[in-house]
Amino acid sequence: MYRKICLSFAAVALSTALLAAPAFSKPTVIKFSHVVAENTPKGQMANKFRDLVKERLAGKVEVEVYPNSQLFGDNKVLEAMLLGDVQMAAPALSKYSRYTKKLQLFDLPFLFADMASVDRFQQSDKGKALLNSISEKGLIGLGYLHNGMKQLSSSKPLKVPADAKGLKFRIMSSDVLAAQFKAVHATPLKKPFSEVFTLLQTKAIDGQENTWSNIYSKKFFEVQPFITESNHGLLDYMVVTSIEFWDGLPQDVRLEVKKALDEAIAFGNKVAAEKSLADKQKIIDSKRSEIISLNADERTQWVEVMKPVWKEFEGEVGKDLIEAAYNSNQ
Ligand code: SIN
Repeated sequence: MYRKICLSFAAVALSTALLAAPAFSKPTVIKFSHVVAENTPKGQMANKFRDLVKERLAGKVEVEVYPNSQLFGDNKVLEAMLLGDVQMAAPALSKYSRYTKKLQLFDLPFLFADMASVDRFQQSDKGKALLNSISEKGLIGLGYLHNGMKQLSSSKPLKVPADAKGLKFRIMSSDVLAAQFKAVHATPLKKPFSEVFTLLQTKAIDGQENTWSNIYSKKFFEVQPFITESNHGLLDYMVVTSIEFWDGLPQDVRLEVKKALDEAIAFGNKVAAEKSLADKQKIIDSKRSEIISLNADERTQWVEVMKPVWKEFEGEVGKDLIEAAYNSNQ
């Protein structure tokens, strides 16, 4: 009898221990979906995040990275996130307009003088508050990530705004970007990033705007004979997750994940700064594309023709935000 009691105690103790043992609980999987190549600032940031989480949260959290629109394109990823099919992504700030109009701020042409100004604004109270601008939709911004300033690539040389008249440009899904190209009497077409190369190659469109690293990594320079170094706009990202997923993580795990993400973002920003220079040089060295520089007068013409777009979107974005962002230029 005594032996029987001891044995059943032992059985209960063993099954309780098995249930509690971390070795038997599955790690939380964070699927991180993005649309760019792995050798870009965002690609490298996502991989760094995966590696840091593996190092620090092994057995508890696992990050799976899906690059090159393998899992979702940017037009679907936020819906998928709300359904729980993906946990993290970092769409360009231009791709949030179905969720908030405030982030359109970052698309206003010639708003930021350089990346240091972008940093100053994003790290200000107003900049940080924008990370919560999609919370009513169930999403939360965990941080900004840089890519860099955009350049204009085209099938013909673009020196002054009149050169763009009548040309078709692919844009991200942003009404501000549409207005920017309409301002120079060009035709903007909202198309997914994954289609841009083919659209350019088949000459279905004449040009597009993007950063040096995207133009290089997606080989746009091989099918675009001219790139104007316009630095007319910003391509930056917001790393995003769903509030339901984020709040569902145990607090200690959430803090560690956020710490790893912040470190990965800092790393990605460094990569962005380096790639902006290095990928531009690789494009120059390839001799596939002619790089056009603007003199002060030509640049002023682009600014003057595109700047009225600010006024057009002042109501949706907020005059105070536009002023704050502009004042971050020194
Ligand atoms: C990206 O860098 O994530 C894509 C940008 C684009 O759609 O042009």
